[in-house]
Amino acid sequence: MRLRKKRWALPELEENPYIYINPYELNGKWHEVFKNDQPMQLEIGTGRGEFIVELAKRNPDINYVTMDVESNIFVYAGRNIQEAQLDNLIGVLDNAENLSKIFTESDIEKIYINFCNPWPKPRQHKRRLTHPRLLNEYKKVLKEGSEIELKTDDDGLYEDSLEYFNAEGFEILETDTDLKVNENSIVTNYESKWRNLGVNIKYIRARFNG
Ligand SMILES: C[S@@+](CC[C@H](N)C(=O)[O-])C[C@H]1O[C@@H](n2cnc3c(N)ncnc32)[C@H](O)[C@@H]1O
Repeated sequence: MRLRKKRWALPELEENPYIYINPYELNGKWHEVFKNDQPMQLEIGTGRGEFIVELAKRNPDINYVTMDVESNIFVYAGRNIQEAQLDNLIGVLDNAENLSKIFTESDIEKIYINFCNPWPKPRQHKRRLTHPRLLNEYKKVLKEGSEIELKTDDDGLYEDSLEYFNAEGFEILETDTDLKVNENSIVTNYESKWRNLGVNIKYIRARFNG
């Protein structure tokens, strides 16, 4: 199902001082954007931004960039990010396929991917955010030794992602097929919806060793 385009979403995002809709011009200048040299981490597939706003609040000594391709949804993340008024969090409207146009080699120290679209049909697999096509794009900007964390409700995506990480030379550090909530967890409404339905949340932590 295609979402009806909200015509007001892009103009609203353009007006939001915490959102960049032309992020290529920032490539190589991220420390100027954040006005410091703190490590930079990335979330891909922001949704409404609940996860990254909370993470950035908890870790003021890390800079966070969150990215989503869909202005219809990202506009709500933009509101949450603007309301939080954090110095260490900004959003970019773009496709993860373009990551290496936005960041340079070793810019990113960690990537978070939460509940990305599972794209279940084989002909759709290449659109998955953990597909080797995208992992290769991430490698261009990840610092050696940095990690990717994936949370998903989808069994097929979980199983295939383990294969994708292995095939692309990532080291699997941790897996869980029934991730429990603890005091460090950040649970979005989207995740709660699945948990309330009794769906196990699956988790992978993988390291890029260069
Ligand atoms: C199901 S939502 C999950 C939202 C959020 N991470 C959460 O856990 O609540 C997946 C998000 O990924 C975004 N997305 C899908 N493909 C993308 C891509 N290639 N680049 C950037 N964002 C993408 C979608 O627009 C959507 O907002």
